[in-house]
Amino acid sequence: MNTIDLEELGRNFRERYDTPTPLFSDGPHAIYWLGWPEDTAFRCNAYLIADGDEALIVDPGGVSSFGFILNRVSQITDPLKVTAMILSHQDPDVAACMVNWLDLNPQIRIITSVRTNLLLPHYGRSDYEFININEDPDFTFSSGRKVRFIESPFLHFPGAFTSFDETSGFLLSGDIWAAIDMDWHLVVSDFRNHELKLNLFHLDYMAGNVAVKGFLSRIRSLDIKAILPQHGSIIHERFVAKAKHYLSELRCGTDLIYPDLR
Ligand SMILES: [Fe+2]
Ligand SMILES: [Fe+2]
Repeated sequence: MNTIDLEELGRNFRERYDTPTPLFSDGPHAIYWLGWPEDTAFRCNAYLIADGDEALIVDPGGVSSFGFILNRVSQITDPLKVTAMILSHQDPDVAACMVNWLDLNPQIRIITSVRTNLLLPHYGRSDYEFININEDPDFTFSSGRKVRFIESPFLHFPGAFTSFDETSGFLLSGDIWAAIDMDWHLVVSDFRNHELKLNLFHLDYMAGNVAVKGFLSRIRSLDIKAILPQHGSIIHERFVAKAKHYLSELRCGTDLIYPDLR
């Protein structure tokens, strides 16, 4: 049973970066927003999924944010207990600090897609254990709890995927449902207003309506309690249906660039 009400957390949240922010907590299983201070509209979110003595870091970010993120993780657990990192795709703001994590712990594994894994060595290291989500779409903690991976081709990278934490029902969505804004809040409180911020990202980055509809069909059976994107605000359960509807109606990418070819 989650002890944290995300809507209430959003209402009371005052921007602070000196501690990690718990988003979900049920006994030994917890999810944290690690955040980092960025005075930009393209603010990035990194998350930690902790399960007993193990932890996964999700989209940990760029090289310049490594020290900050490491500090936040250290407040939750011994960073050496972060046994793997999930990289939803290879963008530098998602994945560049993989080299720093490997320097800290050469045993840390990288959970990602084949297409992402082809590009990661360009950050400078290829001597890591790769866990292939295309072959093994589940990660199982030693407790038996699972994180499930759902491929999201062309949203926005051909090998992109999302991660569904079965215990919390939280979908860590990478760049899907990412938002750009200068008026950032941790949790969405007004979805209509948030759609404008989603548009600033999705119209340019997402491939087209077929890609988003295909992804929606893949997550149809999931009971999603919150959406945790890599940019912008967290979408809590009350707005999940609206968030899906937003995507289903979305005209983006090639729909807009080549409207006559539809
Ligand atoms: Fe990206
Ligand atoms: Fe991104």
